[in-house]
Amino acid sequence: MKSAKTYIEKNKDRFLDELIQLLKIPSISADSAYKKDVLKTAEAVKKQLEKAGCDSVEICETPGYPIVYGEKMIDKKLPTILVYGHYDVQPPDPLDLWDSPPFEPVIKKTKLHPEGAIFARGSCDDKGQMYMHVKALEYMTKTDQLPCNVKFMIEGEEEVGSSSLEWFVTKNKKKLANDVILISDTGMIAKDVPSITTGLRGLSYVEVEVTGPNRDLHSGLYGGAVANPINILCKMIASLHDKNTHITIPGFYDDVEKLSKKEREKMAEAPFNLEDYKKALDIGAVYGEKGYSTNERNSIRPTLDVNGIWGGYTGEGAKTVIASKAYAKISMRLVPNQDWKKITELFKKHFESIAPEGVRVKVKPHHGGQAYVTPIDSLGYKAAEKAYEETFGKTPIPQRSGGSIPIVALFEKELKSKTILMGFGLDSDAIHSPNEHFGIWNYLKGIETIPQFYHFFTELSK
Ligand code: BES
Ligand code: MN
Ligand code: MN
Repeated sequence: MKSAKTYIEKNKDRFLDELIQLLKIPSISADSAYKKDVLKTAEAVKKQLEKAGCDSVEICETPGYPIVYGEKMIDKKLPTILVYGHYDVQPPDPLDLWDSPPFEPVIKKTKLHPEGAIFARGSCDDKGQMYMHVKALEYMTKTDQLPCNVKFMIEGEEEVGSSSLEWFVTKNKKKLANDVILISDTGMIAKDVPSITTGLRGLSYVEVEVTGPNRDLHSGLYGGAVANPINILCKMIASLHDKNTHITIPGFYDDVEKLSKKEREKMAEAPFNLEDYKKALDIGAVYGEKGYSTNERNSIRPTLDVNGIWGGYTGEGAKTVIASKAYAKISMRLVPNQDWKKITELFKKHFESIAPEGVRVKVKPHHGGQAYVTPIDSLGYKAAEKAYEETFGKTPIPQRSGGSIPIVALFEKELKSKTILMGFGLDSDAIHSPNEHFGIWNYLKGIETIPQFYHFFTELSK
């Protein structure tokens, strides 16, 4: 395969412009007010897949947001790559922390991105990374170099738990049949340290509600005499970790995968600078489970975090009140062998059991998914390794990530194929945060590396 460099150089302004158009549509799957925009984004992705050379593209209806499915089959005897990505994005709030509006993309230079980065919600997660695949396909079809078959499956509900995907995948196993799944929805260690994500954490997401008295009360007349749901909720949450920041839910660690000393030593070889890490986040110290390094804490160890907590009076000034109810949203990141449904049950049982008399507790499970690990000796991994060597001039480092893409474990179970996670984002790209951005260099490097994967995967499959 020829290098895509010249083609990219010639077309890069258009590649950027097309992505910018896509980023302008606020496809926020979590907020039903944006339903039209989510659907509009699906249409836009369909159009671009057609233009890039897919033979057929359809918008597949699901009980939730549609899945855009496209394919280009050139020869049944050749391998088939299934590309997965998502066109929905996270809500952009808090809006006032953005330096420019989240859906009005701007290109700005940063220290890490002297070539410029596109600032917009979804620029990295995942419109920008998904669109690299569309442009890589364009390059291969327009220059007559597509070496194998390709299928695209771009969904619109990833950021809210991919609830329609299991339904779609089990119904369409034949249609989705493939030899390897390729996803760019993760990150890499640094611009000069390419890496391939070999693990993702699972997830169990729950919402809890603590109810005390049947109405909001005067905090002077009743304070001290009744259970305050907010006080109680805070106490209950605080008790979920012990002094070593171990999670206290009985049975929580029962199935946790244990890594050997050798595996942990190997992991520790990945470049990481604790001082830089603290500086980037403006924190004086890191915090976490005793006995594990920062990199272990956010990849091979399970966690429990409150994502939001509310109740009572939060408006201007002061109001003396004991609220009737308090709420929290809690996520548990899980590691291989932990079953998310079992963990959700354990949480529910435990949380209900620690509620003191005087309050009632409700636990509402949201969504979840299993963790994923992939071996580094598979055909797909080797092809990815060679692809990075070609475009970065370096062998990529395998890295387990702390994030979750629940669909990956489901793919392996239902479609029996391995997923290769070729991410081009950086931790500092601020995904899910204000001022999300994606480096132009990373975007173009992705477009350059993806065709190499197609090439080597086809070669190694012979
Ligand atoms: N692309 C992310 C996941 C990710 C990012 C994995 C960086 C590894 C490195 C994905 O869009 C995401 O945000 N997933 C959610 C889970 C989902 C069920 C809402 C997550 O990890 O919180
Ligand atoms: Mn994503
Ligand atoms: Mn995301």
